[in-house]
Amino acid sequence: MVVDPRESNYQDVYKVLIGAIVPRPIALVSTISPEGIRNLAPFSFFTAISANPPVICFCPTRKSGPEPRKDTLRNISATREFVVNIVSEEIAGQMNITSGDFAADVDEFEAAGLTPIPSDLVKPPRVAESHVHMECKLYLTLEISDLPGGGNLVIGEVIRLHVDDTYVDNFKIDPDKLRAIGRMGGNSYARTTDRFDMVRPKV
Ligand SMILES: Cc1cc2nc3c(=O)[nH]c(=O)nc-3n(C[C@H](O)[C@H](O)[C@H](O)COP(=O)(O)O)c2cc1C
Repeated sequence: MVVDPRESNYQDVYKVLIGAIVPRPIALVSTISPEGIRNLAPFSFFTAISANPPVICFCPTRKSGPEPRKDTLRNISATREFVVNIVSEEIAGQMNITSGDFAADVDEFEAAGLTPIPSDLVKPPRVAESHVHMECKLYLTLEISDLPGGGNLVIGEVIRLHVDDTYVDNFKIDPDKLRAIGRMGGNSYARTTDRFDMVRPKV
């Protein structure tokens, strides 16, 4: 198959992208609206882009309808703060609930049965059930396009990291304890319990 994105339906192109770029880590992003409503949503267009300073990015795509910005993007644009909570297998179900298109005045911690705990440096709370939290300050947003399915790049500087003490030894997180999940295409997910090691060549 050869796909020319300019000649194709964007939803088909999307399916190829999310089937090919796998597995994708999941950022469960907590934000708070200017009115104080807590919001949670998962984003798998997510990665780290700098270690010094630590910087991560994720991408809320456009919604159809009069307000194309997802609540997460609206809140971050207004408050410039968010928290990335890493998703372990045991909260997969709750993470999935937060992907529902809830109205902006719904507290998605309550909707999903997840527990908010205060962050140290930003207003949005952390998810207690998550074992790694990244408190972030907005660095930059970039609208990629205003077409349907167009993405918005959200770049954030991680100003504080929290890792469950029992999951980490000398800064190395134990993947067998973390049991992070990744997103595949469609409704599929991957576990991170089947791994193999390779030593990098010294050239
Ligand atoms: C595992 C998973 C990953 C997702 N990744 C993305 C993503 O990268 N970008 C996006 O726009 N939506 C993504 N979604 C859909 C959003 O979570 C969904 O649109 C959500 O309602 C947005 O919430 P908000 O309006 O509260 O920000 C994903 C959903 C799931 C279940």
